[in-house]
Amino acid sequence: MNIKSVHCLTFSPTGTTRKITDTISAVFQTKIHNHDVTYDRTKDFPDFASEDLLIVGIPVYGGRIPAILEDLFHRLHGNQTLCIPVVLYGNRAFEDALLELSDLLKAQGFITAGAGAFIGEHSYGSEIAGGRPNVFDLAEAKKFAEAVRDKITGIDSHEAIKPLHIPGNHPYKERSAPGIPWGPVTMDSCNNCGICATVCPMGIIDREDPKNITDPGSCLHCCACIKTCPQNAKAMESEFYKKFRGFLIANCSETQKEPEIFI
Ligand SMILES: Cc1cc2nc3c(=O)[nH]c(=O)nc-3n(C[C@H](O)[C@H](O)[C@H](O)COP(=O)(O)O)c2cc1C
Ligand code: SF4
Ligand code: SF4
Repeated sequence: MNIKSVHCLTFSPTGTTRKITDTISAVFQTKIHNHDVTYDRTKDFPDFASEDLLIVGIPVYGGRIPAILEDLFHRLHGNQTLCIPVVLYGNRAFEDALLELSDLLKAQGFITAGAGAFIGEHSYGSEIAGGRPNVFDLAEAKKFAEAVRDKITGIDSHEAIKPLHIPGNHPYKERSAPGIPWGPVTMDSCNNCGICATVCPMGIIDREDPKNITDPGSCLHCCACIKTCPQNAKAMESEFYKKFRGFLIANCSETQKEPEIFI
């Protein structure tokens, strides 16, 4: 089968998912139509055709796809369009996220040609999978994309694509109930450069006064503001964050997980 257009949809507040989807897209050696939804989740998408391929990359949040993306997936329309769902997780576990993403795409008219779970530095700190995806991860992503590309070019029709066994549970893991809203705090070392406001995917850092988090209840805890602050002036002080970060450092920082692919 020939693919006419390759589209890539990515949500990636701290950029690790983006590294993997860029690596996968590059293998298809054609103009890529990028749909980056990190900062704008209201945009329209084309109706995807049966000769298109859609690569979708998202981070794992609590073993699921990020809740704020659910509506967006319902606005995607495939027409027996091949897709490659990809999740990025922070070396703890991807649980039901890849299955959920693949299910959502299937319900919207897409056929999964290959799927993968890759590892990226955890949002909660560089102690957990720091620097990943690394050279090895990117090489695995490239090999994965080449294998899916060869699978697609080696078949005559969509009917030849067999359903993949993607790990995960039905029903999916329950999302944790929203507790007391919490967001980042800002230290006195902040010099009002405004960088954190430009990288916040929720637009809740006041551009005029970056110490002001306008809606802590919408904070994703993605830590993009913390990781990009040149003054190290943003931090999380919530007890939940501190405890969970401690858990991750104690339990998920020594053993490095490896990418898992399904073709
Ligand atoms: C709210 C939240 C929940 C997360 N849940 C998980 C998880 O369940 N398992 C895991 O291994 N990593 C988890 N992570 C880590 C992210 O999946 C990981 O850091 C990912 O690489 C971030 O992607 P990005 O760089 O594209 O933003 C979570 C991160 C956040 C912010
Ligand atoms: S990036 Fe850091 S220094 Fe710049 S405005 Fe934000 S908190 Fe302040
Ligand atoms: S304020 Fe919250 S949503 Fe915005 S970048 Fe910081 S952690 Fe992410």
